[in-house]
Amino acid sequence: MSAETARRTVAVAVTGASGAIYATRTLAALLERGCHVELVISDYGRRLLRDELGEAAAVDKLAEYLASQYGDAIRNGTFTLYSNRDLGAKIASGSQNCEAMVIVPCSMKSLAGIAHGLSRNLVERAADVMLKERRTLIIVPRETPMSLPQLRNMTLCAEAGAMIMPAMPAFYQMPKTLDDLADFMAGKILSALGFPHDLYPAWK
Ligand SMILES: Cc1cc2nc3c(=O)[nH]c(=O)nc-3n(C[C@H](O)[C@H](O)[C@H](O)COP(=O)(O)O)c2cc1C
Repeated sequence: MSAETARRTVAVAVTGASGAIYATRTLAALLERGCHVELVISDYGRRLLRDELGEAAAVDKLAEYLASQYGDAIRNGTFTLYSNRDLGAKIASGSQNCEAMVIVPCSMKSLAGIAHGLSRNLVERAADVMLKERRTLIIVPRETPMSLPQLRNMTLCAEAGAMIMPAMPAFYQMPKTLDDLADFMAGKILSALGFPHDLYPAWK
């Protein structure tokens, strides 16, 4: 098997929920491990990256931002950025080789679209593909408090086979910084995808 075919391909979607740092840490962790990332960022996801992390994290500078925050090892991997309007993109089809998708963070709007199979944009369509092909879909919702429709939408997605992984970092690892909290969530995502990591200390 060539190095190229051995490269794992994971789709990452970033939507307009608070917690852009969870997205950048997860992206960096996948790239450090040599993954190819199929990346789609909704309009509000783009806004959240800039609002929460600053202009340097704007989508057109994302690779440089990730390298500056997490180091040059992110260049072990590659990513392709798709428009959320491009329903003809590779990840909109079940015939592509993308093994898993992570939506981090996931807004209640995108959650609702996925729960009801709407496929209105590439985030929703690619998630729908993961569900119909019985592949791994990890949804990292962020909202508080939650309405009954939002809770029901999470249940619908879980019943359809998605893993619901709320953006709920733990405090038993004694976090000192926001990065520690982001490491925890990225570590949980990596574990669910089957990647070894030391992003947080194992519970003893
Ligand atoms: C600064 C900001 C923070 C937001 N935080 C959240 C949030 O934490 N959770 C959520 O569900 N929506 C949040 N929203 C609202 C969503 O961005 C909005 O519903 C948007 O239409 C989601 O679209 P998308 O899923 O296509 O990104 C936020 C919006 C803004 C501007």
